[in-house]
Amino acid sequence: MSDRGTWGSRVGFVLAGAGSAVGLGNIWGFPTRVGENGGAAFVLVYLVCVIFICLPIMIAELAIGRRTQSDPVGAYAKLRPGTRWWMAGGLGVAAGFGVLSFYSVVAGWALAYIWFSASGAVSGDAVESATFFTDFTSHAPSSLFFTFVMLAATAGIILGGIRAGIERVSKLLMPVLAILLVVLAWHASTLPGAAEGLAYYLKPDFSKMMSFGALNAALGQAFFSLSLGLGTMLVYGSYLTKREGIAKSAIMVVALDTSLALLAGFVIFPSGFSIPGFDPTSTGPGLIFMVLPRLFATLPGGQFFGAAFFILLALAALTSAISLLEVPVAHFIDSHGWSRKRAVVIVTTATFALAVPSALAMGASSFFSDLPGIGMDFQSLMITVWNDFALPIGGLITAIFVGYVWRIDSALEELLAEQAWFPNPKLWGWMVRYACPLAIFVIIFMNIRSMIV
Ligand code: PHE
Repeated sequence: MSDRGTWGSRVGFVLAGAGSAVGLGNIWGFPTRVGENGGAAFVLVYLVCVIFICLPIMIAELAIGRRTQSDPVGAYAKLRPGTRWWMAGGLGVAAGFGVLSFYSVVAGWALAYIWFSASGAVSGDAVESATFFTDFTSHAPSSLFFTFVMLAATAGIILGGIRAGIERVSKLLMPVLAILLVVLAWHASTLPGAAEGLAYYLKPDFSKMMSFGALNAALGQAFFSLSLGLGTMLVYGSYLTKREGIAKSAIMVVALDTSLALLAGFVIFPSGFSIPGFDPTSTGPGLIFMVLPRLFATLPGGQFFGAAFFILLALAALTSAISLLEVPVAHFIDSHGWSRKRAVVIVTTATFALAVPSALAMGASSFFSDLPGIGMDFQSLMITVWNDFALPIGGLITAIFVGYVWRIDSALEELLAEQAWFPNPKLWGWMVRYACPLAIFVIIFMNIRSMIV
């Protein structure tokens, strides 16, 4: 137990929570998925998912975390001893592995692009920067190397006890990232073709959005971006003091995270559409890596801006990766009595093993780049399984647990402690019991159905 205290260092919830939430999900995941799923209509659906499904569930996760002060498996076991509810936490621990396995690959790309931008290796020409990305990601040693470096850094930080330090640094840097995004968005809006990009991003065309696959993608993206559904927020709920108030803290994290994602869209789409023949639906996970070099090339001091941007992105990814690794690590320490070192080394090694096929899925291995009989590459498969299914299902289970097992009254006791500000407890209870689980269930069920038939 004493081992657990070291990683807390009580950095304050909004700091840690925003550090976890803001990451690749905002800057890479959000624009990519908006692009793949038809633009503005997706943005609207995403916002609905964030406010009406994710926010109430985040409050529920935080309440469990602050009450129990333990890892996800231990938390459910504490609230309902002797039952199988601990398995709900088990799903979160598994999802922590799963998400980190593809997350570290993309974080590795961000890391590599610091150097590519600074050195001017990646060109400002749209066609060349697309080829550059494909060549880079299909070269096995480089993808594996950068994935490894990102995972090793994450493990090193958790082991070295410098986590709180990193979180403080990232808190200082987050406003810098936001300012840089505003500058880039402003510049992007002056490029030729920007108006078309803005229309794609802001003018909904619902005919493009009416598939359950797209709805499911918006839901999964909302959970992913908010670090929800696998127990990260549950673990971070233990940072909350009674005085801070759960609702207020949750709203702050949600607002921060969502603003940064929206801002990233204002950078990517105008820049993208300034490239003749640009088609956001077909660019896939390389979107930002293909579009941004061109944007930087049109800026005075572009190499500097490019490098600065990717440094900030890699750092934001690092603080999120730390929070992902922490869920399984905290579990093996708390529930199995492992030493911190053993937990970190074993969990990181296992994650790297699962990351290898994702790192090879962008052309380096023809098998993993197009899995026979599945019709997608291994990385997309991981994103579908963990991000689109496991996280929302984790959220669904949290809602059912809080709504019907632990019960709204007990949760409200925690939420209203010390006269904390909490608007409309009744509405929250209703959302957690009925609206959230039903919405998640329908979206996932219908999507799976549409995949089968
Ligand atoms: N929210 C993080 C991001 O946007 C990723 C993450 C997901 C972290 C789930 C923890 C848990 O990059």
